[in-house]
Amino acid sequence: MTGLPDLYRPNHDELARQRFVGLMKFFANGVLEQHLAERYETVLKPRFEAAAGHAPRDRAEARDVFEADGLFQHWGSMVYASQSLMWQSVGDTCRRIGPEFESRVASLAERAARGEGAGGTLTLNPQLVIPEPIASTDIHRQPGGYFHEDYPGDVHAALIYFGTLELYRTAKGLTVNAPVGEPGMGRFIGSVAKRRYPDLKPRRILDLGCGPGSETLGLKELFPEAEIHGLDLSAPFMRFAHAWAEEQRVEAHFRQADARETGYPDGYFDLIVSHIVFHETWHEIAPAIFAEARRILAPGGVFLNADVPYQPTRMPIPKQVTNDWQVRNNGEPFWTGFADTDVRERLRQAGFTDSEIVADYEPLGAGFYYFFGGQRAIEAQRRAA
Ligand SMILES: C[S@@+](CC[C@H](N)C(=O)[O-])C[C@H]1O[C@@H](n2cnc3c(N)ncnc32)[C@H](O)[C@@H]1O
Repeated sequence: MTGLPDLYRPNHDELARQRFVGLMKFFANGVLEQHLAERYETVLKPRFEAAAGHAPRDRAEARDVFEADGLFQHWGSMVYASQSLMWQSVGDTCRRIGPEFESRVASLAERAARGEGAGGTLTLNPQLVIPEPIASTDIHRQPGGYFHEDYPGDVHAALIYFGTLELYRTAKGLTVNAPVGEPGMGRFIGSVAKRRYPDLKPRRILDLGCGPGSETLGLKELFPEAEIHGLDLSAPFMRFAHAWAEEQRVEAHFRQADARETGYPDGYFDLIVSHIVFHETWHEIAPAIFAEARRILAPGGVFLNADVPYQPTRMPIPKQVTNDWQVRNNGEPFWTGFADTDVRERLRQAGFTDSEIVADYEPLGAGFYYFFGGQRAIEAQRRAA
């Protein structure tokens, strides 16, 4: 029987197209953005200053001068086109392998339900109404979005999302000697948690907004003694995650739920993590997610989220403008809402105290990741008792 990682194999022509898309994305987001930053300093900023008497103070002031510029228009066209080509080329692979992939997913779920699998579980909630605005948002312009289902057992939304992760990994040269779906970010987040909280010995870990669950499995490598859980709003993602874990013979428990209302008992987890969830959900609900995380966190437990480091105070004007363009044109509608959020203040509102809160940057490759959350003090629980 062929396993799921073996089934996810773009054929020769698909791979050639996907590599082209990966290169195009790196050219637009890397080389062209660098040219744009230089053009801002040498042409666009002086042009703005000549008219306004001062340099642009923020992205809103700078937008018009960028949008009238040919290089910026060229950048935007290339970003938009490469995104469309990504969905087309990855979609070809997913439609071709889809039936066999879904049949394997179903047989892994049946094996687990018979008690012959790795011991993991899948809890779907057919009554769950996917909340707006995320329900009708095609994040990243993914056709159909994260939640679309055409028939029982549909995993296409998760498969195509997963395929784009592989496209990026291939473009970065990370897939040459690495297995499909290798959990690099799960390992990174787990290792940051270990280094920052060396005394933490989690009995249960939750990956909030775990998507297809491939990164979740990295947590099991870092904390082999812990029981692993993943939660996400999307049923296709949860089906995929359950089957993926069962295929690797990793016991993990996946649940479809809203991160604001998880359904777990008070104090259930010693470690709650997330990866790139908060810039993909609308920022108004961050305090409710933080409060729910605090409720299900055991005394002494840690809540640690990793996300993009694009807070405007850290970003030069050109990066602010290109990010804002992605928000308005390229399926990232929640990005600047998150970037503008005062995360420390929202964590305070959710009950975390200043001494518990972390909101900090960790180096990763040539860049940084934003880590935020907090450790729930043991004393807080004692005082409340
Ligand atoms: C970019 S994906 C990240 C998935 C995964 N963490 C990874 O690293 O691949 C963001 C995920 O957050 C989930 N999500 C967004 N809002 C949520 C909410 N309110 N409750 C639960 N999951 C949510 C989405 O369904 C999606 O799977």
